[in-house]
This record gives sequence, C-alpha cells and structure tokens, in this order.
Amino acid sequence: MQFADRLQHVETSAIRELFKLLGQPGIISFAGGFPDPALFDATGIAAASAAVLANNPGPVLQYGATEGYQPLREGIVGFMAAKGSRVAPDGLIVTTGSQQALDLIGKCMISPGDKVIVEAPTFLATIQCFRLYGAHIIGAPIDADGVDVDKLEALIEEHHPRLVYLIPTFGNPSGATMSLARRQRVLEIAVRTQTLVVEDDPYGELYFDAAPPPSLLALSDSVPGSRDWLAHCGSFSKILSPGLRVGWMIAPPELLAKATMCKQFSDAHTSNLSQAIAAHYLGQNRLGDTLAVVRKTYAERARVMAACLRRDLGAAISFNAPQGGMFFWARLTGANGKNANAADFAKRAVDQGVAFVPGAPFFAHDPDLATLRLSFATADVAKIEEGIGRLKRAL
Ligand SMILES: Cc1ncc(COP(=O)(O)O)c(C=O)c1O
Repeated sequence: MQFADRLQHVETSAIRELFKLLGQPGIISFAGGFPDPALFDATGIAAASAAVLANNPGPVLQYGATEGYQPLREGIVGFMAAKGSRVAPDGLIVTTGSQQALDLIGKCMISPGDKVIVEAPTFLATIQCFRLYGAHIIGAPIDADGVDVDKLEALIEEHHPRLVYLIPTFGNPSGATMSLARRQRVLEIAVRTQTLVVEDDPYGELYFDAAPPPSLLALSDSVPGSRDWLAHCGSFSKILSPGLRVGWMIAPPELLAKATMCKQFSDAHTSNLSQAIAAHYLGQNRLGDTLAVVRKTYAERARVMAACLRRDLGAAISFNAPQGGMFFWARLTGANGKNANAADFAKRAVDQGVAFVPGAPFFAHDPDLATLRLSFATADVAKIEEGIGRLKRAL
C-alpha cells in the first residue's frame, strides 16, 4: 500500500519493542509510564458514573460540544485556580487526553520543515507526533533545574522555531523541575522573541513534599504579554484515571479556535460520559484525598528506589532524585568497567527479570546512549527492592 509521505519520518517507538518482552511471567517492570491502577479511586469513579447516568442520562449519552462539557470546563477552571492559574471556561477546551492537545497544537502550528525546540530528552510521543507534521526537531539541553535557558534562548535566536515544547514540572522522562527563575526567563524570552511556548503539565500535582514552583501559566500573569505566547496542556490521566481520556488545553483565543476546528474533524468531541464523570468527581471534592494517597505512595517508592540504586548500583549509575512525578532519569557511568550502553544493559536486565526503558529514544537527535528511565509508580516497595537487586546482577 502507498502511505502518505508524512509517515516516512515516523516509526513505531523502540520502546514498544521492549514492551513485548514484558509479558514474560515474573518480570518486574520499571519500564511503563502508567500510574498505579491500585491507586485509582474506583469507588469514587463508580459513584460519579452512577450519579451522572441516573441524574442526567440524555446529555451525557448524546453528542456534545467540541469545546467540552460545560460543567467540566467550569470544574477545570476551579482546579486550575487552586493551582494559581486564572482561566475562564471559554479559555480552555477539553481534549481526549493531553495527547490530543499536543496533536492539535502540532496540526495547527507545524508545516513540513518548520523547526520546533524540545527538551533533550523529552516525551517520546510528542517527538513522534510533531514529526508526523513534518517538524524539524531541535533538542535543548537540560539539567536537574530543567531546560538550560541560555542555550534555549540561543537556539530560539538561531532557528526561529514555530514553537518550544517544555515539560517544566517533573518531566517525562527527565524527572527534572524547572526553577522559578528559569520559568520567569522562559516567559520573558517568549514575549521578546514572539515564540509560542507549549507547557505540558500532566505531573505537577504529583509532588512529594513541597509543591513545585508555579506553572508557566500561573506565572504568566506577572510577565506582561506572555499569555499571548503560551499554551498549556493539562490532564487527569496521572491523578485520576488515564482510561477516562480527559485532558485540556488553554491557549490564546486564535489558537484555541483553530484547535477546536481541527478537533471537530478529528473526534467531534471528547466522550461526554467521561467528561461528566470527571466533572461530577471534581464536584464531590474527592480529588484532594485521592491525591494525598498517590503523593504519599509515590514519595515512598521514589525514596526506596533512590536508596536501593545508591546501595546496589553505587558508582555505576548517576541520577538526580526527583521531587515528584513518576520517573528517575539515570545515566550509566561505566565506573564498573562495563560499557555504558543502556540498551545493552536493558537486554541483560530482562534476562535477570527486570525491565526499564533505555533513554536514547527520548532524544530527538544525538541520543545519550548511557541514559535510562526508571518508573517507580507501579511497583510496590518490595518489588522495587527486588527489582533493583536484579539490576545489580545485570550490571
Ligand atoms: C509528558 C506527557 N505529556 C502528555 C502525556 C499524555 O497523557 P494523556 O493523553 O493521558 O493525558 C503523557 C503521558 O504519559 C506525558 O508523559
């Protein structure tokens, strides 16, 4: 079959190949990017489902508005306000996961050959999605404080990108969180260079101790003009349920209108039933309690993973312990005399019964082959201890 030219630059991800191995019995997986299903508030979601079907079956089972189910748009406004972001209900659209928001941004903004700047490393699906639209993707270096803003500024001046895509808080895969000072500078640079910045924030609520710095969106009030150059993608996937497929996009009105038009051609609207369940759930004020459990559980798992990595892998691996989110980003140092190739290590690890994702696919170019991502979200503490022990045997 002859497929569209746009498919020429996109492959199914290398990570999927690894996932095929994970069906093997007894494997402990640090590879996935899923939240722990044991932490889903199934009781609360069941009650919300029953309530919306009993009280309001017509509208929630009917076609709905492309922009989103109005009570949920209002619920998201309240959720964002609690995080310090000011937005009106018609300043956002509900999307089918934040993945769809990213796809709509790609569709609306990127023509073949356009340049786009992302963090190196960044969320793989965004690289793939923007490539599908023909983007030439340029990676900006990051450290534990997020993107290197001086380098980012220089890259923007050099390449005049169509947009800059950032995950400022508890990045996937980096776990890194951008400092407040850098956030402010990113907004100033966006205004000065008139560059659209896309803030992807699915993990910001998953902090362990202190809340992270305010989002770029929350900060935009204090940087004049920056709201005109900022799009923000949010999601209930990592805090409530990814199966609901409810995310949202906040953007300047012109972009929001174009994205709404494209969404209409794509899925007409996000499932009304899912949206109504999410809206009802928010209205029940259960999210705070659910989040408290998730934060505590992930904090404990991250603490144990850090301790086990230090104890069992020692100088063979370096990493910055994250303050939230779901991931450790680590680097093989070669200090144990073995080659520091994470893909080779991943194969040996699967032989020992433990899986993780090598870091190379998360780079748009010039991959660091020594890097790897470990998720601490789904394995319990005993499995993390056992799994890191297996990693030691795989070294
Ligand atoms: C950084 C980032 N953005 C977006 C998504 C997409 O999430 P969803 O479409 O479920 O909202 C993910 C999921 O893993 C992610 O890690």
